[in-house]
Amino acid sequence: MIEEVKEIVNNDILSPEFVEKEKEVNPFSHFVVYKKNKNIIGYLYYSLIYDRIEINQIEVLKSEQHKEIGTLLMDYLIKKNMDITLEVKKDNVNAIKLYEKFSFKKVAIRKGYYNGVDGVLMERKVGDNMKDTYILGIESSCDETSCSIVKNGCEEIATIISSQIDIHKDYGGVVPEIASRNHVKNITIVIEECLEKADMTMDEIDAIAITYGPGLIGSLLVGVEAAKTLSFIFDKPLIPVHHIAGHIYANNLVKEMKFPLLALVVSGGHTELIKMDKHYHFEKLGGTLDDAVGECYDKVARVINLEYPGGPKLDALAHEGHNTYTLPIPLKDDSYNFSFSGLKSAVINLAHNEEQRGNKLRKADLATSFQKVAVSEIVNKTKKALEKENIKNLIVAGGVAANKGLREEITKMCEELNVELSFPPMKYCTDNAAMIATAGYFAMLDGRKADLSLNSKSTDTLK
Ligand code: KG4
Ligand code: ZN
Repeated sequence: MIEEVKEIVNNDILSPEFVEKEKEVNPFSHFVVYKKNKNIIGYLYYSLIYDRIEINQIEVLKSEQHKEIGTLLMDYLIKKNMDITLEVKKDNVNAIKLYEKFSFKKVAIRKGYYNGVDGVLMERKVGDNMKDTYILGIESSCDETSCSIVKNGCEEIATIISSQIDIHKDYGGVVPEIASRNHVKNITIVIEECLEKADMTMDEIDAIAITYGPGLIGSLLVGVEAAKTLSFIFDKPLIPVHHIAGHIYANNLVKEMKFPLLALVVSGGHTELIKMDKHYHFEKLGGTLDDAVGECYDKVARVINLEYPGGPKLDALAHEGHNTYTLPIPLKDDSYNFSFSGLKSAVINLAHNEEQRGNKLRKADLATSFQKVAVSEIVNKTKKALEKENIKNLIVAGGVAANKGLREEITKMCEELNVELSFPPMKYCTDNAAMIATAGYFAMLDGRKADLSLNSKSTDTLK
């Protein structure tokens, strides 16, 4: 067919890379040709039927396939901003993939349309303008090696998480050197498994999002180097993502984030209240002055001999006891800041004193009493921020967002204030790459891009 197209299209006017020329025999038919060294190597043949386009044929020379020429021709047509329909053989998987990339939807099957082979009628409406964007995210900031592919910043395609909890629990906490060695072991496996699970190749990925910090420097480096390598080899944009932005954006996998919103970030490394007026704009209202709440949970859990990570186990135990121990209220001030080190020390001292006096420590009661104080402190500060800043949307983020006691109390408070509340999916409260790929999509829309000089940062402010 390419030979025929050459005859139809007048060679004299083929100077720019794209040329559109009406075919003489039919004023409604158009050819768009793609030229390389004055030779036509691909074309698109379509009909203009009133306010609608119908694609008749698209073809690229065999030797020039897989060079995105089909995509460029389609892109040209899409920019016309008209509804488009087409028919394609049901077994032409590559063509169907190309059309789906441009948001075409299968609307009907035409039985035996192509000499016995079914035809698929596909349609793309104006407004289905955004082509789908697939972000591959990588997370390795602490003791989880994870890779995920997320579509359009809201739809999870596949996620693989390799947790090192079993390795570190023998030490009662994460050992940085052991963590980075295990990331090295796991990183390529996790990326490959993720692509396999998604049934995708790197060619179909639009950008790579990577947690550059904060976290354990050796752990971060493994992910960052892997992401930079993929970005270089496959020529994909590299999007740097702050770990906490990731935790916040895990919420967008459940429901669309609405602005202005308040994000309560409660994790092993952070306890912060962040205001967002729009996507990817963060304003810190307050944060912890010392320990993060997750860290405090883990230390208190250790005092009562619960296995690492003790947070979830302490949470479970807190539902079995009574609030009988008196513990200090962390920070009585007017700010949006938190402080948990005093509460932590009070629990440690109480446990030692009881031991010295020969009293048996009522572990479940201590867990209940501790959780009561910790949760009230978080809920009260969050409530104050919501009221004072007049914000009607709250999202909770980070590992401690999985805490049952916190979920109950926050839910009650939001009902009282008539605030819309969102939690991340339970499995994505703790570290994972789905949240990084999701945040990466919005970071990319905000124009954030890194080059191969990107480095890991063990500490960094979210901005
Ligand atoms: O977000 P994350 O995975 O890591 C950081 O970015 O820090 O959070 C891990 C923290 C750990 O401290 C863990 O004990 C805590 O989240 N955590 C919990 C619960 N589930 C996880 N803390 C209290 N209650 C839980 N149910
Ligand atoms: Zn985290």
